[in-house]
Amino acid sequence: MATKILVIHGPNLALLGEREVAVYGQFTLDEINQKLLALAKKAGAELEIVQLDGEGEIVEKIGKARKDVSALVINPGAYTHYSVAIRDAIAGAGIPTVEVHLSNIYAREEFRHKSVIAPVAVGQISGFGVNSYLLGLKAALDLGQK
Ligand code: DQA
Repeated sequence: MATKILVIHGPNLALLGEREVAVYGQFTLDEINQKLLALAKKAGAELEIVQLDGEGEIVEKIGKARKDVSALVINPGAYTHYSVAIRDAIAGAGIPTVEVHLSNIYAREEFRHKSVIAPVAVGQISGFGVNSYLLGLKAALDLGQK
């Protein structure tokens, strides 16, 4: 199977570039996606990118992707901190997963310090702005080749 990576942007990330710019940076979601597509193209990998606000939509997408995706990059947004449903979807699908965050969740409010996703991800990248996604995609490309 050719390497295919799925990127899921979770809730509220469609507003990047407008939303809390001091925390999340000035890049829009579209600009981030262009950078991801360029990196995937260089690596000769296929990339599917979706932005989903709903918890159920994310669960459904992960379940459907399990057969044709080599690895997953996900920024679960606020669901990071409490969605057992998304955690279970990742565990159940068995897709190697990289959790990414633009901001450093450990340097922010205490409720953001806990990720229920991290224990079922291969690893987590947090705090590097748009580079969190690019580093996450690099890790996923590597995982997808195994
Ligand atoms: C975020 C961090 C979350 O705590 C927050 O709810 C988000 C974005 C990040 O990328 O830094 O929506 O996942």
